[in-house]
Amino acid sequence: MTPILTANIVDFISHSAEQTQRIGERLARLLESGDVICLEGDLGAGKTCLTQGIGRGLGVQSAITSPTFIIVNEYPLPDRSHKLYHIDLYRVQNAAEACSTGLEDILFGNGTCVIEWAERVREILPDNRLWVTLRYVDETKRELHFEARGARFEALLQRFRQEAFGI
Ligand SMILES: Nc1ncnc2c1ncn2[C@@H]1O[C@H](COP(=O)(O)OP(=O)(O)OP(=O)(O)O)[C@@H](O)[C@H]1O
Ligand SMILES: [Mg+2]
Repeated sequence: MTPILTANIVDFISHSAEQTQRIGERLARLLESGDVICLEGDLGAGKTCLTQGIGRGLGVQSAITSPTFIIVNEYPLPDRSHKLYHIDLYRVQNAAEACSTGLEDILFGNGTCVIEWAERVREILPDNRLWVTLRYVDETKRELHFEARGARFEALLQRFRQEAFGI
């Protein structure tokens, strides 16, 4: 893993699905109520895999699967008043369609949100967010690019970099 040193960006290669999940788990420990994590990447890039790790890190007990027909799955979090919302916009074409499902209430509510295909609804997303772009490199490798927007996520990403890579 070779991270690039820019304040609001962390970039590295994951060598396995398990490693991607462990990264999600580590990230999850820094997440709070109201945080929004946007995931962008092609089919099979590892968005759900990363979300499963986040769920693991937040203590979600049930298995996180891709919501195929429903757009949002919600998971209660142990010892917390808020929930994890796993949002998958694969079947949504645009922001107007997403709004008709009540997505905005969830995005601006107090849950922790992880959104697959977030780029489809860019215009309704909160300004403060962590944007993760995943790219297929080969069968077992994925490039993960984390970009923080806003002071809270810049601080979070710096802590994440420190804890995950020691720099
Ligand atoms: N380094 C890696 N990181 C993540 N997934 C990996 C990696 N190497 C192999 N894989 C495999 O790639 C697949 C990723 O699937 P996943 O469902 O997470 O993708 P996705 O981005 O959510 O796709 P979709 O757009 O269909 O929802 C899994 O089968 C996983 O085992
Ligand atoms: Mg998925």
